[in-house]
Amino acid sequence: MSQSLLEARGITHSFDYTLFTDINFSLAPSESAAIVGRSGSGKSTLLHIFSTFMKPDEGKVTLFGENLYSLNDDEIEALRRYDVGIIFQFHYLFKGMSAMENIEVASMLSGEAIEDAILEKLEIKELMTKKVGELSGGQQQRVSIARVLSKKPRIIFADEPTGNLDQETAELVMDVLLDYIKETGAGLLLVTHDASMATRCDKTYRLGDKVLKEEV
Ligand SMILES: Nc1ncnc2c1ncn2[C@@H]1O[C@H](COP(=O)(O)OP(=O)(O)OP(=O)(O)O)[C@@H](O)[C@H]1O
Ligand SMILES: [Mg+2]
Repeated sequence: MSQSLLEARGITHSFDYTLFTDINFSLAPSESAAIVGRSGSGKSTLLHIFSTFMKPDEGKVTLFGENLYSLNDDEIEALRRYDVGIIFQFHYLFKGMSAMENIEVASMLSGEAIEDAILEKLEIKELMTKKVGELSGGQQQRVSIARVLSKKPRIIFADEPTGNLDQETAELVMDVLLDYIKETGAGLLLVTHDASMATRCDKTYRLGDKVLKEEV
């Protein structure tokens, strides 16, 4: 399959001021890309646009060959449930439930089972019976990453997935994400402030002065 997983053309968006204009981006199967840029430059907004959660003022986003703005609500819902994996800047877990229960909810919704190997690689297998509220921030972050991977997404959007982690744990998370896309042909688009994470991706783009440019 040589077709792009994600294709964005002419994306322009403003809130109080113009955030970015005429952004073009594409992501191929098994490809990893990082977006870097100053705080407030619009990285998270761009990720929301690419991942079906926001419609830009102008432009077109195609995911797995489907024009997002020609899909109905059920079709968008199906994309989110089965195909799109999102690791948010702030992780959303159900605090009253155990780590395992959180992962099971995602597995149930998508009909895919979590692999023990992923829990082991993320070093959270022993934490599964603990309530999320009893876990450290970085442990919660890794549970939320396992939760996203458990549904076997075809593309992963990750907004600072290693933001709360020490260097060693951050490398571990990158290993897991990069192994996952190599094994499955999924794509990875990651926003990060950490240059050492960005350089592990196939490509790095900088968002600044309202444009997205590949760094070479
Ligand atoms: N829903 C919204 N309504 C109005 N303004 C918004 C909204 N979301 C974001 N903004 C504004 O858009 C700008 C870009 O925000 P965004 O979160 O995309 O930046 P970012 O590059 O991800 O920053 P950071 O690195 O701090 O996470 C900010 O000035 C923010 O206040
Ligand atoms: Mg952000």
